[in-house]
Amino acid sequence: MDNLLEIKNLTKIYREGGQENKVLDDVSFSAAVGEFIVFVGPSGSGKSTLLNLIALLDGATAGKIIFEGKEILRLRETQKAKLRLNKFGFVFQFDGLLPEFTVLENVNMPALIKGRDKKKRAAALLAGLGMTDLAHKMPPSLSGGEKQRAAIARALINEPRLLLADEPTGNLDAARKIRIFEDFAALAAQGITVLMVTHDTHAAQYAHRCYKIEGGKITRMDLKIH
Ligand SMILES: Nc1ncnc2c1ncn2[C@@H]1O[C@H](COP(=O)(O)OP(=O)(O)O)[C@@H](O)[C@H]1O
Ligand SMILES: [Mg+2]
Repeated sequence: MDNLLEIKNLTKIYREGGQENKVLDDVSFSAAVGEFIVFVGPSGSGKSTLLNLIALLDGATAGKIIFEGKEILRLRETQKAKLRLNKFGFVFQFDGLLPEFTVLENVNMPALIKGRDKKKRAAALLAGLGMTDLAHKMPPSLSGGEKQRAAIARALINEPRLLLADEPTGNLDAARKIRIFEDFAALAAQGITVLMVTHDTHAAQYAHRCYKIEGGKITRMDLKIH
């Protein structure tokens, strides 16, 4: 399989009041096209830091991020913004849906930002996630799980190659969590590379590969058979 993403010797040190906090310590891994990789670690282990670096929202202390064969950490801001809009999709713990727009309008929003109306694709994405009946509802009337699935549809509207998910099931009950993990596995099967960070070890069994993140290092974890 082709590598979409290569992380090489990524290190992130936060310096505060003369103190050094090495949050990521020489982290390396690669992600193939259509691979679903999960990182599991407790609060404060550097999960969000890792995703924020890959999302190009923060700079690294050392290391490289190679996406589609090119180093991207040192691109100009405008190029980074283009990658975020065109190639990356984001799902966070909090859905970030705009309450005054319908679910369909929310899903279509990143396309409108690009100057393209993709209402049809938005409707198809919602249908694919079993959300057709909810397309014209307002987000506050949806359950937590439904909102999160709307956020996944929104993350997919611009056809990203890489989906970055930061604790996307943090607010959900067990059944709804499983549904989201299954959705991510299905997206990977369609060729999207999915990186998810979570403190939920259950997620491992839905992934192709799983790492534990601890003390700034990542180590491979066994996948349980489900
Ligand atoms: N902007 C920042 N400035 C200084 N320290 C930070 C910053 N962001 C995160 N940290 C520190 O980095 C460590 C890892 O944080 P984070 O990546 O948010 O962990 P997680 O997402 O696993 O809970 C924590 O000790 C946190 O306090
Ligand atoms: Mg976090």
